[in-house]
Amino acid sequence: MSKLRLGILLSGRGSNFEAIARNVQNGVLNCEIGFVFSNRPAAPGLALARTMGLHCDSLEMTGTDRAAYDTQVAALLKKNGVDVVCLAGYMRLLSGHFVSQFPQRILNIHPSLLPAFPGLDAQYQALMHGVKVTGCTVHFVDDGLDSGPILLQAPVAVLDDDSVETLSQRILAEEHRIYSEAIAWVARGDYRLDGRRVMKT
Ligand code: GAR
Repeated sequence: MSKLRLGILLSGRGSNFEAIARNVQNGVLNCEIGFVFSNRPAAPGLALARTMGLHCDSLEMTGTDRAAYDTQVAALLKKNGVDVVCLAGYMRLLSGHFVSQFPQRILNIHPSLLPAFPGLDAQYQALMHGVKVTGCTVHFVDDGLDSGPILLQAPVAVLDDDSVETLSQRILAEEHRIYSEAIAWVARGDYRLDGRRVMKT
């Protein structure tokens, strides 16, 4: 059976991408990275992907037509034979049309225990709310904001002396772990969806 071909979408640093790429390189993840894309040509994650010899591209969004932009991105992903799209710090909402082209084939990592604290600055939101436990979530993407069915979550305790930076760092370590775990699960295919619930088969 051929390996699952991943397409990575990122906007910034790319540490989640790097964790996935390292796990692919060392054989922990039985997938291949077919394409790395960024909406920001200067994203450090994209530069890293290039040094790894991966096939990369970027498209700066110039107008306001989200649907037209997403159509171009979807075409690039398809041209590169991508089976599963992994959002790795991709700071754009995807259009419904884009999502419908990869049904249950788009994954996202989010730095909170969803449905708490969707959207931007999830770690700051958690600190401001005063929760004692937050964490991270890998979920399938639907056309809502961080709202699709959940694959995996990991809790992280909030400490009294945490800043956004210290909390983010501990959450990030868990993100790096569970994202590859979730991708491996999707690659094995031994799951089923029952409503919103993603369960082992
Ligand atoms: C990660 O913390 C990721 O969970 C978050 O952006 C960061 C990207 O870091 N994503 C979101 O907040 C999406 N709503 P990275 O570029 O080092 O992977």
